[in-house]
Amino acid sequence: MTFTRIIGTGSHLPGPAVSNDELAARGIDTTDAWIRERTGIGARHLAQPHEAASDLALPAAQAALSAAGCVAADIDLLIVATSTPDYVFPSTACLLQARLGINDCAAFDVQAVCSGFVYALSVADAMIASGRHRRALVVGAEVFSRILDWQDRATCVLFGDGAGAVVLEGGERPGILASALHADGRHAGILSVPGNVRGGGVTGDPMLRMDGQAVFKFAVRVLDEVAREVLHKAGLKPADLAWLIPHQANLRILSATAKKLGIAAERLVVSVDRHGNTSAASIPLALDEAVRDGRIRAGDRVLLAGVGGGFTWGAILLEM
Ligand code: ACO
Repeated sequence: MTFTRIIGTGSHLPGPAVSNDELAARGIDTTDAWIRERTGIGARHLAQPHEAASDLALPAAQAALSAAGCVAADIDLLIVATSTPDYVFPSTACLLQARLGINDCAAFDVQAVCSGFVYALSVADAMIASGRHRRALVVGAEVFSRILDWQDRATCVLFGDGAGAVVLEGGERPGILASALHADGRHAGILSVPGNVRGGGVTGDPMLRMDGQAVFKFAVRVLDEVAREVLHKAGLKPADLAWLIPHQANLRILSATAKKLGIAAERLVVSVDRHGNTSAASIPLALDEAVRDGRIRAGDRVLLAGVGGGFTWGAILLEM
């Protein structure tokens, strides 16, 4: 049987961290205490005006390639998960491909909002397992600061910008053990950017809108369900996991998910406190951080679980 395995990780955060106090000093009617208590977020990174998703994706991808001991030409499949692409088209994946100097490989974007990285990794896994591709670069890259209403304190304090990447390779050694993807478009209205480009202008509302409490309840329920689903598929239990990396939306969502699964806080990877919610970039950013600081080691079983607008959700159980 052919497995796919992560052989390198990388990430990139733009500029200096912006603290909660700095947001308040910029005129947002909020406090560090409110944000920390409700979300666990202490800071986030915000892209400069000239930086787009591909600008954040490039150094993350280069770091993942270097960690994998690969050069760009070794990649034959490139998938970027993003909901804040550089352009309507071409895809951010094609822009990144050109900047990496890869002259020919399949390249496309996946749009599943905060589940985007889990979706993209699952698609890459299936394409490698089919035998048609050998080595994939999978990136989550977002500039959510561009779609935030900075007058809406209930949403603008939650998000940040960044990128994370992995190199995935086919082989005989176990890597991805199980995956599951879900979506239910009936819940589109609780988290959306309900605008569009039309005739040279924007129609509808180009800002992120969210029913926070509905999102909270939905996220905690499906993260637990989908984590159990992939564990069941692999014949494993929560106790068999070394690490749980849920989408970094809110510390209360992460902690509630770990508690429902019976996973100790020490086995939960948390980066939302310093990154905010970076949507499709949040899981690969957290993964890269935990790999580089030595928490995640070769052979560790890791469960990645995402949930986001759509609504979409999914999980991947893997061995590093
Ligand atoms: N600073 C200070 N006060 C605030 C802020 C803020 N940044 N934002 C809202 N408030 C106020 C509200 O105006 C309200 O005031 P009022 O009582 O005078 O009307 C009060 O705080 C309570 O507001 P709620 O919306 O009821 O606060 P809640 O406890 O639900 O927390 C939050 C809001 C943090 C958004 C919570 O619902 C949540 O975490 N939801 C999950 C959403 C999430 O994580 N989304 C990420 C994207 S989705 C994803 O990634 C899957």
